[in-house]
Amino acid sequence: MTHESILQPRTVLVTGGAGFIGSNFVRYLLAAQPDVRVVNMDCLTYAGNLENLAEVADNSRYAFVRADIRDPRACVEVCQENGVEAVVHFAAESHVDRSITGPAAFVETNVGGTLNLLQAARECGNLRFLQVGTDEVYGSLGPTGLFTETTPLDPHSPYSASKAAADHLVSAFGTTYGLPVVITRCSNNYGPYQFPEKMIPLMINNARQNKPLPVYGDGSNVRDWLYVEDHCRALWLALTKGTPGRVYNIGGNSERTNLEVVKAILRHMGKPESLISFVKDRPGHDFRYAIDASRIHRELGWSPTVDFETGLGRTIDWYLAHQPWLDHIVSGEYKKYYEAMYAGR
Ligand code: NAD
Ligand code: DAU
Repeated sequence: MTHESILQPRTVLVTGGAGFIGSNFVRYLLAAQPDVRVVNMDCLTYAGNLENLAEVADNSRYAFVRADIRDPRACVEVCQENGVEAVVHFAAESHVDRSITGPAAFVETNVGGTLNLLQAARECGNLRFLQVGTDEVYGSLGPTGLFTETTPLDPHSPYSASKAAADHLVSAFGTTYGLPVVITRCSNNYGPYQFPEKMIPLMINNARQNKPLPVYGDGSNVRDWLYVEDHCRALWLALTKGTPGRVYNIGGNSERTNLEVVKAILRHMGKPESLISFVKDRPGHDFRYAIDASRIHRELGWSPTVDFETGLGRTIDWYLAHQPWLDHIVSGEYKKYYEAMYAGR
């Protein structure tokens, strides 16, 4: 099935645009869609960083609004004052380990914040709403099988539980109020500007400093890695050509064990495997995620274009060429975070 473009929004609200995927999406959109204006609503938590958007800060089609999605009035105002025609909702607390030590913020932002944005989308003209979701809502796979869009939701961490609750609210707004909603569920992203709490940039950062690389458990857990630009392309297609009410899985078709990924990083960086340190496992650690992305391929013509080895090489090169960016992040609060999360593990 092919779809004609059904939506060509002139002004898109991107929430969480100062984070990893959001900032890549803002850059992608400004470059790929010359008629689109982007409004980035972000409250700049520890994960939000305007340095991620330095190269577009002066673009006349880009505006930044520092505001919190937990504030319902701010959600309405940002839509009304900027003539927003569609919403791409990234803003979230996104790190599983932090959700285990402090779940409340995940419910407040990921559930409460999503509700506020949905209300605003209704109030401001029934705006098209793209919920940027995660494959973690499906739970964990054994050694075989793939998540499809009809796999029942079975979240295991406070993070994935909050994202599943948000997805349910999004579909409920579609069914109950006729809000034109689309949900995407993506596998693990990697690429430039990812905060070094997530596995790949954390390992790159430690390897460059010859510090131990902390692999949880025995390193046999499997993730399906997707280069972030491929994700951005899929999101624009889902927003503009996706069928309202529909879910689209997005995956990289690049399953790797964590140990394979860490060894590949060390190989690319010319560092010894003796840096690998097996540490206490994450509680409730999902064993395997793997995506069946045939629906988005069939209906919207999307497939990933960057294979894992190429994407990983690009990512490592980017981090090594942007060490001041990394140094800035890891010099402050990050040290306390790292100490609390990894000391005694
Ligand atoms: P991130 O943590 O790098 O960025 C999150 C951004 O949201 C930050 O800029 C932060 O300041 C902002 N934010 C947080 N709380 C906010 C609030 N209350 N109000 C306004 N802004 C707020 O996250 P990411 O990895 O880029 O993920 C973005 C989205 O994509 C999330 O919804 C996540 O669940 C989803 N997702 C991520 C992945 C992945 O591999 N990273 C995969 C699938 C889905
Ligand atoms: O699947 C999509 C999800 O991918 C997104 O929804 C989340 O926002 C994103 O954070 C990511 O979740 P994961 O928990 O899979 O990503 P993380 O980078 O934290 O961990 C990847 C794997 O590496 C996981 O099996 C845990 C392991 N790991 C992680 C860290 C931080 C380690 O072995 N050591 C580490 O220090």
